[in-house]
Amino acid sequence: MANQKYIIGNWKMNGSLNSKGLVSEIDDFCRSKLGDKVAVGICPPFPLIGLVNEWSWESPINIGAQDCHFKESGAHTGDVSAVLLKEIGAKIVIIGHSERRSNHGETSQLVCDKAKAALLAGLKPVICVGETDEERKSGNAIKVVLNQIEQSCPAENANIIVAYEPVWAIGTGNVASPQDILEMHNEIRAKLIEIYGHDGKKIQILYGGSVNAKNAEEILQTQNVDGALVGGASLKAPDFIAIIDAAINVSN
Ligand code: PGA
Repeated sequence: MANQKYIIGNWKMNGSLNSKGLVSEIDDFCRSKLGDKVAVGICPPFPLIGLVNEWSWESPINIGAQDCHFKESGAHTGDVSAVLLKEIGAKIVIIGHSERRSNHGETSQLVCDKAKAALLAGLKPVICVGETDEERKSGNAIKVVLNQIEQSCPAENANIIVAYEPVWAIGTGNVASPQDILEMHNEIRAKLIEIYGHDGKKIQILYGGSVNAKNAEEILQTQNVDGALVGGASLKAPDFIAIIDAAINVSN
């Protein structure tokens, strides 16, 4: 179990120039309550990264992106490099979210290359893994997720975060059961120790998929759950703050 819990908001394709109020409320809470046992991240769409950074200037909140390219620069229309993200103030970057794996055909090999590019640029990659409903129903969830870990995580650098997000739990309100989360996070921890040795014990493993203000505390208390990757509930200040608060409570 890592020492610090990490709560990361994944705004997906949401947010606008009007999101300053949302950021300010979260920022105010973090400045007064966060302490050093919990870290908070916000990952808005690319065009808002610089602005959210400005809106939360000198805040403990880490700003991040939702994707990056695996090259530093070049002829890649529509893509954004990790180097530029770092330059505009990003600290973290979500890589291999299931929506990118399924909607953009991203393979674990590509996810690994992107994670390497992020590390090289000085960003912390949040590498996402998770099984589909069919994979769970056919009894293959653990095998699928451990394969994704093996192929998506750069073996030479443990400075990563892993997010376990069952695809069927994302945006559905169907959160995974505490037993399923416990089982999968323990399996992921064992795999990370196999890959990284002692360093694998310190890698934060986040749970994602329908985390909300009500279920956060129970999830965050689970062994080997070192935080949460939050979609829908990160767009409402009271909900996201309640999740951060739950992380603070379970850390004390
Ligand atoms: P959700 O999304 O919290 O809306 O289920 C989580 C995610 O996709 O990261």
